[in-house]
Amino acid sequence: MTGIPGVGKTTVLNELKDIAKQNHTNLTVLNFGTIMNEILRELGKQMNRDEMREQDLETQRKAQDLAANEINNRAGQGTIVVDTHMFVKTTVGMWAGLPQSVLQRLSPRLLVLIEANPEHIAGRRRGDADRKREAAMMSEIMFDLEWSRSTAAASAVTTGAPVKVIRNDPGTQKQAAQELFEVIRKLVAA
Ligand code: AP5
Repeated sequence: MTGIPGVGKTTVLNELKDIAKQNHTNLTVLNFGTIMNEILRELGKQMNRDEMREQDLETQRKAQDLAANEINNRAGQGTIVVDTHMFVKTTVGMWAGLPQSVLQRLSPRLLVLIEANPEHIAGRRRGDADRKREAAMMSEIMFDLEWSRSTAAASAVTTGAPVKVIRNDPGTQKQAAQELFEVIRKLVAA
């Protein structure tokens, strides 16, 4: 499950957890960034989640690989949904959140892109006072949405997994989560 910062993926995933519970469905959400952050801390590098993308690429790559291993180890019965990114804006350029090495470990059955209108994403970034976010221009957000789609297309070819695009328009987080739940249910039943 991916989406650019501020699109609301964590919000939708919180709704998804509630829906799964109501339907007695065994579903676990894991946040890739949180696991990476824990791994970096274990490696002696304490930082907040927004500082991770500013680290040198080798540090990020190491944490990314270890996080993918950790998620792979946690896979058991039930559905695992990974809250992550198609790409990360590092200081040296756009870097894949799901390069082939990670995709091989995660082996996803479904790739999800959460999308919303650029003006709504900009508004959510401004309104989220809990997190340190860069002020993003609308054109930058539009570029990021396009880059996500392109990266998702490449990942779809590599994995053979379908890509589901889900809209998270204002006030529709429950519907977005319900849509995702229905797709997961179909895949699990197949
Ligand atoms: P991550 O934890 O994913 O941070 P993020 O992208 O900033 O995600 P957020 O959870 O803050 O934003 P969100 O889009 O989920 O929006 P939210 O639901 O909060 O990643 C952190 C870091 O980890 C990355 O920067 C990277 O360094 C690293 N990382 C992660 N995966 C990686 C990978 N694979 N490889 C390498 N590094 C990786 O919502 C935002 C606001 O909008 C909230 O106020 C919310 O209430 C509001 N809102 C949401 N939906 C709606 C709606 N429908 N209507 C009205 N308001 C809404």
